[in-house]
Amino acid sequence: MATNDNSIGVFDSGLGGLTVLREIHKRLPHENLVYFGDTARVPYGNKSSETIIRYSREITQFLLSHNIKAIVVACNTASSFALDAIREMTAIPVLGVIEPAIRSLTQKAKSQSVAGLIATRGTIQSGAYEKTLNLKRGTQKLVSQACPLLVPLIEEGYADSAAAEIILKDYLDPLSVSGAEYLILGCTHYPLIAPAIKRLYPQFTLIDSAEETALELARLLEERQILREKVESRIELFVSDMTKSMQNLKDLFFAGRVDRFEVARLTDD
Ligand code: DGL
Repeated sequence: MATNDNSIGVFDSGLGGLTVLREIHKRLPHENLVYFGDTARVPYGNKSSETIIRYSREITQFLLSHNIKAIVVACNTASSFALDAIREMTAIPVLGVIEPAIRSLTQKAKSQSVAGLIATRGTIQSGAYEKTLNLKRGTQKLVSQACPLLVPLIEEGYADSAAAEIILKDYLDPLSVSGAEYLILGCTHYPLIAPAIKRLYPQFTLIDSAEETALELARLLEERQILREKVESRIELFVSDMTKSMQNLKDLFFAGRVDRFEVARLTDD
């Protein structure tokens, strides 16, 4: 039985989900947050759906052992493949990041607009964005581009480098040529490379699901009357491997606000 004091569980394949966690904390500062970043096994974007589902189940099991009242899958690749498998494991609400991004697009863009979609290879191949757009009866045209080199660049701290610019141009020039006015950042790592994208392509309006996901979570908790109202809250971060880039981003996003930051093992072996 979920109580108001239970935490929100959030996970990603690595550090990208912290972009979503930051928005959740901004919008819902009283909520206790438990985050798991699978830093030992990132990236998920080039793995098979079976593997992504297995990893997502293991992380869900871990989060469920931490008294949570909702799960946010702050990873587009896991949201593309594993939402149903996660929902089979629990009755608490499970939110992905794709639906909020599509909602943001359909609210902002005219019906015939062209939107570029950049994401991991897995997310693009899953067709999850197109399916969600159809389900929501959105009529915008999506032009997609897999960007497998962006996550390693970001994880290695190269988001603002000359190398990143060359690679971004290779990926994004075709989207610009196809007349895209919007660009969906279909990977939770990509807000970290957004400054370089904005510099190179000021014509794109960027769609980032973090804010919309936090908003949807707030609506959901309110609807179920499980919002937490106490002032002080806890942020706990767990990783499968302690990496420098995770430590740096934690300090940048949550300076002094993290109560626990440690390596956690997912299985008993
Ligand atoms: N954060 C993941 C996503 O949103 C991308 C990183 C990865 O490939 O694991 O898809």
